[in-house]
Amino acid sequence: MPPLSPPLLQVDGLSKEYAVGASLMGARKVFRAVDGVSFTLARGETLGLVGESGSGKSTVARCVMQLERPTGGRVLLNGQDLVGMSQSRLQPLRKVMQIIFQDPYSSLNPRMTVGRFVADPLLIHEGKLTREALTQRVRALFAKVGLDSSHIGRYPHEFSGGQRQRVCIARALAMSPQLIVADEPITALDVSIQAQIINLLQTLQDEQGLAYLFISHDLGMVRHICHRVAVMLRGLIVETGPADAIFSDARHPYTRALLSATLEADPARERVKTRHFFDIRQLAGQGDGFMKEVAPGHFVREYRPAT
Ligand SMILES: Nc1ncnc2c1ncn2[C@@H]1O[C@H](COP(=O)(O)OP(=O)(O)OP(=O)(O)O)[C@@H](O)[C@H]1O
Ligand SMILES: [Mg+2]
Repeated sequence: MPPLSPPLLQVDGLSKEYAVGASLMGARKVFRAVDGVSFTLARGETLGLVGESGSGKSTVARCVMQLERPTGGRVLLNGQDLVGMSQSRLQPLRKVMQIIFQDPYSSLNPRMTVGRFVADPLLIHEGKLTREALTQRVRALFAKVGLDSSHIGRYPHEFSGGQRQRVCIARALAMSPQLIVADEPITALDVSIQAQIINLLQTLQDEQGLAYLFISHDLGMVRHICHRVAVMLRGLIVETGPADAIFSDARHPYTRALLSATLEADPARERVKTRHFFDIRQLAGQGDGFMKEVAPGHFVREYRPAT
């Protein structure tokens, strides 16, 4: 039997604590933004990460990318644990994973041409490229993301929001990554442009087998593009499973409330929909609970009744 290859990404018990000032008596206070999060992501797969504002989604994203060092847990990329790895050992692995953010304008340097911005990772990782070869590579990347390759000498302010996100995607693609962490990549864009960017991400996935960790508040979009979904609440995953199971058979009271708060496209369905409300006090005194598999691959956090 051939050896089983590890998943592209395996996150295991990931935690991140922030120091949040001292208490009155001078003791150090910490806030646990992420509290033992575990999930896997296969090659070519899209995992949606959803949950209320402040639940820890972006912190997970930054810790996966090692832009911030986790306080605990493991982040295995192709079986190699990135947590605690030195910057010099991380550097070559950074080619494999890239991140795109909500606001493409703040990712761009206003004084750098977009062509130079896209070329930057190539200069860092493939320093021996000739000027000619570099220009060819950047033009090809522009074409791949649907940008006019004659615009490589322009500056960020000369582009629309959607075009700027395409520039960021082109840069992310420069090193032929296997994983793209997309932290609300379409939130800041017009609805029509959102669809274009999503189509682009899906085409790239089909062509290159990219995996996405897709963070979004747009549950309709998550349902549309994600294979699996993980729902976060206060630093914990409370439910995870195949997208179909999450959207048709949500079990955790928070997931149900989150789904019932989104508008149905069909007005008839919207009128008859059952509303679910969730108040965090419902879980008071029940501890963190434990994850239970309720159907194949569908896990829900359960709590022992308070005694
Ligand atoms: N550097 C920091 N220092 C202290 N607390 C932080 C820091 N970064 C994030 N936090 C806190 O950690 C929690 C999780 O933040 P995070 O940005 O991961 O949430 P999020 O789920 O991405 O929210 P949103 O949907 O609004 O983007 C928040 O309560 C936030 O205030
Ligand atoms: Mg966020």
